[in-house]
Amino acid sequence: MELRYKMGQKYKQGQIVEKECFSGNKALAVWCLSMRNKYNIKTVIETGTNFAKTTEFFANAFEKVYTIDIQEEFTKMARKKFSGKENVECICGNSSKVLASLCGKIPKDEVVLLFLDAHGNYEKDLIDVGVKNRSKKSLEYYPKNATQFNPICVELDTISQHLCGRCVLIIDDIPSPYCNPNVQFGQFKTSQSGFRNIVSKCFQKKYKMRDTMVRLGNKRKSSLIIEPDNIKRGVFITARVDSKRLPRKHLLKIDGKHCIEHVMERVKKSKRADKIVLCTTTLDQDKRLCEIAKKYNISVFRGSVVDKLDRWRGATEKYDIDFFVTADADDLFCDPELIDLAFDQYDRTKADFIEWDQDNFICGAFTYGICSDALRFVCENKQTNNTEMMWVFFDKNHFKKEKLQNVPKIFMRPEIRATLDYEEDFEFFKKIYSYMENKEFTLKDVVSLIDDHPEIIKINNARHHDWKKNQEKELKHVNENQ
Ligand SMILES: C[S@@+](CC[C@H](N)C(=O)[O-])C[C@H]1O[C@@H](n2cnc3c(N)ncnc32)[C@H](O)[C@@H]1O
Repeated sequence: MELRYKMGQKYKQGQIVEKECFSGNKALAVWCLSMRNKYNIKTVIETGTNFAKTTEFFANAFEKVYTIDIQEEFTKMARKKFSGKENVECICGNSSKVLASLCGKIPKDEVVLLFLDAHGNYEKDLIDVGVKNRSKKSLEYYPKNATQFNPICVELDTISQHLCGRCVLIIDDIPSPYCNPNVQFGQFKTSQSGFRNIVSKCFQKKYKMRDTMVRLGNKRKSSLIIEPDNIKRGVFITARVDSKRLPRKHLLKIDGKHCIEHVMERVKKSKRADKIVLCTTTLDQDKRLCEIAKKYNISVFRGSVVDKLDRWRGATEKYDIDFFVTADADDLFCDPELIDLAFDQYDRTKADFIEWDQDNFICGAFTYGICSDALRFVCENKQTNNTEMMWVFFDKNHFKKEKLQNVPKIFMRPEIRATLDYEEDFEFFKKIYSYMENKEFTLKDVVSLIDDHPEIIKINNARHHDWKKNQEKELKHVNENQ
């Protein structure tokens, strides 16, 4: 269902988006409905009922709603309001305590929506922790950064124990002081990034977050929305021993390591990859590459000898990968920062195919990011197994193709050739490693080194022309046979 938000209008499935829910933050209402549809969510838990304005929205859009408030008056009011509605249960209590028992009521195969909006009730919270009168002394109960009395932290902890991986969350008013009376509303200094740390501690890699920020009158209101991140991201190191121009190039050694080991070490620095796979062939000679991958704890897929796309498809199926970045084993300086940029871009744009900018990037810094569904489509429809020039199969009429975005300027150096195809390329890499003297270095360090020693790029840049000509020749061949 296409979801377009309109105030107070009915949707196809009969629910009404209330005018006053989420204090007027329409984006949250839209998000809730889209999450409901995406994860087939039936149940909502709201902490902080208050005047039950948002509860009403939930009651209209979901099968079951639990709403909790620490103040009896609000619970009473809500019970009255929903007396005719069997799907709403109004609970009076401290959400940080009630939540655990509620979580137990959610069927194990269900995703639940949590709207965490209980904050700001200092008096009741103090009583709850055993302080009768709010006095100066009682404030001592709250250390300066009183996370232990901040219900949101307890709530998140409870959720991470009981509902991790099967909930979506909205944390409302994130810059508010929550239950710490030492800090006045609006003076809360906990940065959003600090807050993110609390959340990611609870949920680790399984979640992705996004802020929604609205301006209500002259007030800024900000919420954090968090949903399961089920996308599995891979990096596929593509290699085979049999190479024409520079025989057995991946097994040549620099600094005591095979060239492919340098690539593996670099790829392993990606912060966002869930799986790294060596994609090679079933040929006996490629066994050696698999042994090296094992040493680096890298998974292996062995497939078609000639058809690179088919090999990748096999790897996506074996390891259940949704989106992958290819790391050519020729590219000893392939950059983990750029690999992660491609993953970020896929999250944002859902591109089918992300490619490097041939005219502007360092050759060998990044190659391609590919969505597994697009790859499957190509494999099922292509007429040839000559897929060496594989990018031609992802034409822009059928696929959402994009150049890699947000690439730092330092990588815009097309005169640098950092890919291993010819003897001169090998000399180029050896030279760089000899300058680095066994230190760990990044591609940015390589660029700085080249700036200090511009003669290095002369070692192999004449070969770039040959390489491009060769690519064009092979491309022509593919086009003729497609
Ligand atoms: C911002 S209001 C909730 C607004 C409501 N969710 C809405 O969208 O209209 C916060 C409510 O949280 C309640 N509250 C504060 N601390 C609480 C706690 N520890 N447990 C349960 N409710 C709490 C307050 O009584 C107050 O009614």
